[in-house]
Amino acid sequence: GTDDRISRIASTIRVIPDFPKPGILFQDITTLLLDPKAFKDTIDLFVERYKDKNINVIAGIEARGFIFGPPIALAIGAKFVPMRKPKKLPGEVISEEYSLEYGTDVMEMHVGAVQPGENAVIVDDLVATGGTLNAAIRLLGRLGVTVVECACVIELKELKGREKLGDNPLFVLVSET
Ligand code: PRP
Repeated sequence: GTDDRISRIASTIRVIPDFPKPGILFQDITTLLLDPKAFKDTIDLFVERYKDKNINVIAGIEARGFIFGPPIALAIGAKFVPMRKPKKLPGEVISEEYSLEYGTDVMEMHVGAVQPGENAVIVDDLVATGGTLNAAIRLLGRLGVTVVECACVIELKELKGREKLGDNPLFVLVSET
């Protein structure tokens, strides 16, 4: 059942202390990718949720949203749109700045990738403070796209990222408390 699949997925995620900095418990999904059943179950759980929901766009966040997003997009017949670090995309882009623990970062997407009225799901491996997903929501919103939901493998509950997303729904497979 669904719970068995989720516990297997959770068991494949490796936690590495003090990476990339002292005090951070890094949630490493590369070990999930080494387990073909856990990887397939991860994709299947998202596909079961989003198929037949009229989703046109899977927006994947650099870098690990580029791993989970494309197989979901292919399975549900949606296009895949990369949300990238600045100065990586060659076409006309729009940008959003967002705050990090120290300083700010910028996310960019191609303006021509989506059309007003399309329906998107934003995919990433993990939500921490929610700043990254929030920037993606703002970018798609500026282009008239409806963000149906944000979908992540892991949520770090203590960082309350869900609250930063306001009314935008967040779906996660594994909640770390
Ligand atoms: C991680 C993660 C999310 C983001 C979540 O990416 O993959 O994209 O942080 O953090 P937030 O909810 O606090 O915004 P990272 O900063 O490691 O960048 P990378 O994927 O390019 O390595």
